[in-house]
Amino acid sequence: MDDIKLTTLTKFSGCGAKLGPGLLDRALCGLTQPKFPNLMVDFTTSDDAGVYKINDEQALVNTLDFFPPIVDDPFAFGQIATANALSDIYAMGATPITAMSIVGFPLHKADISILRKITEGCLDKLKEANVPLVGGHSIQDEELKFGVSVSGLVHPDKVLVNNTPELGEVVILTKPLGTGTINTALKRGLATEESINASMESMVKLNKYAADIIKKYNVKCCTDVTGFGLVGHGCEMINNSGFGLTIDFNSIQLLPGTMECVKAGAIPGGTKKNMEFRGSFVENISELPDEVKNIVFDPQTSGGLLFTIDKSNVESILKEFKKAGISGYIVGKITDNSNSIRINY
Ligand code: CO
Ligand code: CO
Repeated sequence: MDDIKLTTLTKFSGCGAKLGPGLLDRALCGLTQPKFPNLMVDFTTSDDAGVYKINDEQALVNTLDFFPPIVDDPFAFGQIATANALSDIYAMGATPITAMSIVGFPLHKADISILRKITEGCLDKLKEANVPLVGGHSIQDEELKFGVSVSGLVHPDKVLVNNTPELGEVVILTKPLGTGTINTALKRGLATEESINASMESMVKLNKYAADIIKKYNVKCCTDVTGFGLVGHGCEMINNSGFGLTIDFNSIQLLPGTMECVKAGAIPGGTKKNMEFRGSFVENISELPDEVKNIVFDPQTSGGLLFTIDKSNVESILKEFKKAGISGYIVGKITDNSNSIRINY
């Protein structure tokens, strides 16, 4: 049981796929809860984390994420799951303070030493983030699942929400795209070593460093690109803002081999769901080549921070990213094309 491949510990092909934005919307739309005077951000705006004001100087930020293995190395899986969960805290402009793990483990299929290695990977990233693991909960499960719930703190006036872009602002992303299609290619034995390594390196990278730079600028609107893909998270950004978003496809950075994986047909199930839910927001969707669609809707794991910034600061922030070894690049701009996305390619 020792050299079992982690990614084979999933039982059905949809296992671990998000329920998807369409289904989630059906489950949650219209649901309400009592008014909490200190509640600043809740589930209704699809933001990265909840925010609850404790006092005039502090707000508590909470998030949780977990999923089945997307790579075969248990240590790397623990690192990725942890970097991914921490990312939602950074996307709110907050500082993570404590973490708890959540585990589903198939004892009948895998040795418990695997969980130890996963947790070592988790602790490695938490150490880098300066966050203690304070507990967790585990159950026996048909499939292996691992994730982390993180609490963070932020000044109530400095919360970065996902839906306050301003006209003319430039939209920047801090990691290349392609983890969804490369992870799918990996499962089918279609991905090259180069792609797998680059994707892994990108997924384990903490968004802490990008967030530290972003916080130096007057940025108010920020999220991270994860399961809903670039267009899905871009939609949340402009939804009900009265503005639109133009994406310049050719300026998007891709992980090595991304196009090859897409062309080989390694399309994650999430891509289609993302397209069904948000395709109608893209005004020129009917003219887009398949490979363009398969990339802008590709679900990302532990993707980069997506934020809007005034034109005058773009050169300076990109320079800082470069110096810090972060691949920050312009993906487009905020337009007056109300609630609609246009993709130039
Ligand atoms: Co997020
Ligand atoms: Co999340």
